[in-house]
Amino acid sequence: EDKSLPEAVKIKLDDTDAKKIQLGDGKDKKGTRVRVFGRVHRERRQKEVMFVTLRDGYGFMQVILTGPLAKTYDALTLTRETSMQILGELREVPAGAHAPNGRELHADYFKILDVGRAAGGDDAITNRVSKDTEHATLLDLRHLALRGETASKVMIVRDAVEFAFNTVYKELRFRKVSPPALVQTQVEGGATLFKFNYYNEEAYLTQSSQLYLETCLPSMGNVYCIEKSFRAEKSLTRRHLAEYTHVEAELDFIDFGDLLDHLEEIMCRVLDIVMSDPVTKQYIMELNPEFKLPERPFKRMKYSDAIDWLVEHDIKNEDGETHKFGDDIAEAAERRMTDIIDKPIFLTHFPAEIKAFYMPKDKDDARVTESVDCLMPGVGEIVGGSMRMDNYDDLMAAFKREGIDPTAYYWYTDQRKYGSSPHGGYGLGLERFLAWLCKQHTVRDCCLYPRYFGRCKP
Ligand code: 4AD
Repeated sequence: EDKSLPEAVKIKLDDTDAKKIQLGDGKDKKGTRVRVFGRVHRERRQKEVMFVTLRDGYGFMQVILTGPLAKTYDALTLTRETSMQILGELREVPAGAHAPNGRELHADYFKILDVGRAAGGDDAITNRVSKDTEHATLLDLRHLALRGETASKVMIVRDAVEFAFNTVYKELRFRKVSPPALVQTQVEGGATLFKFNYYNEEAYLTQSSQLYLETCLPSMGNVYCIEKSFRAEKSLTRRHLAEYTHVEAELDFIDFGDLLDHLEEIMCRVLDIVMSDPVTKQYIMELNPEFKLPERPFKRMKYSDAIDWLVEHDIKNEDGETHKFGDDIAEAAERRMTDIIDKPIFLTHFPAEIKAFYMPKDKDDARVTESVDCLMPGVGEIVGGSMRMDNYDDLMAAFKREGIDPTAYYWYTDQRKYGSSPHGGYGLGLERFLAWLCKQHTVRDCCLYPRYFGRCKP
């Protein structure tokens, strides 16, 4: 290290603050000498020059090693993923050349950190994960795959989306709560319950925090949570996980129309916020180049009209038969319809028989409930919501109809005894929202370490 050079300013690789690094008007000003830390994302050797792309989780920077630096043992044997410290001068890339943020670091000194270099040869990261690696292997090596550009961008967008939900809920004066994950009640049917022995009592991993959120309304006003939900799904589909992140909210003193308006508002505000951040926007557009903010208002379609639509378009049900009123619209049919319509749809008023016990009947059509699924192109259902039965007797009758013993639900049914109110809410699958936003084929690529039928590692 040449101590006679000006002192190097320590920066992050994506630091584009012109005042700090004086590069904004760098054309006629000398670049600043900076010190950066990062891992080798890529390296390329030419005769006299070596190009290194450094990565630090905040960005990428092209580094140029020339002269004796490029011929050192450490440069000649440099392996990907090795952590380095590099000092040098930032300069604009020459016209016609491309580099992250349009600049490159001309190194005058570099050092491989004392922790040592990353594995090379047969064991090099590029021999373990690459574009051609099978998806199943990539999932076993998720800890390494997360260093890739696509996986890391999706995870960074995920952080921004989750933060945006928190921001919008705060704007709308919702309060955040944290309901338990270990429960003794079901919400969405016994078939997908994970059961376990809880001090010799039967208990489950929660399927949804909805019932607990409902108990908060009387004292906290509108509430939300962003928690894990668990479903013992036994099929392998691109949109089912065993553990997923569930954005759930419950609204007091509303009617069904208010619920739909709120849902549209929250999704659009979240999208506005994430798209207003230049880095998040850039990542979304790189992952999903055709992404456009959805048009408002969202298309609203009744379940019965969807059945007619499926019949008209000759899309059959799971048994290969023509759809009829009362059918559960299966994943494949739902996705085909959403892909053809190609915009967000609020599908409403499902028959009571195919929906959860807590959904109230529509006042004008006793066959159907005040329920909504939000469907997105490429993914299908990303939100499920409804008004909630607010009458004690109706709720008890619903438990009976479903064959659920209401005893364990005393704390839930008590809400209807002590000052009930018209209320409703919804759950949004964060991974499904991201699969749509980032155009990912499967929700498995939208969470850190996916859990699904047959996989509980790494
Ligand atoms: O439609 P669901 O089952 O509704 C509920 O759980 C309600 N109790 C939520 C509420 O009203 N508070 O699930 C809601 C959403 C689905 O639309 C989907 O996005 C997601 O949760 N989801 C899953 N995501 C990934 N893997 C699974 N196995 C999922 N099951 C549901």
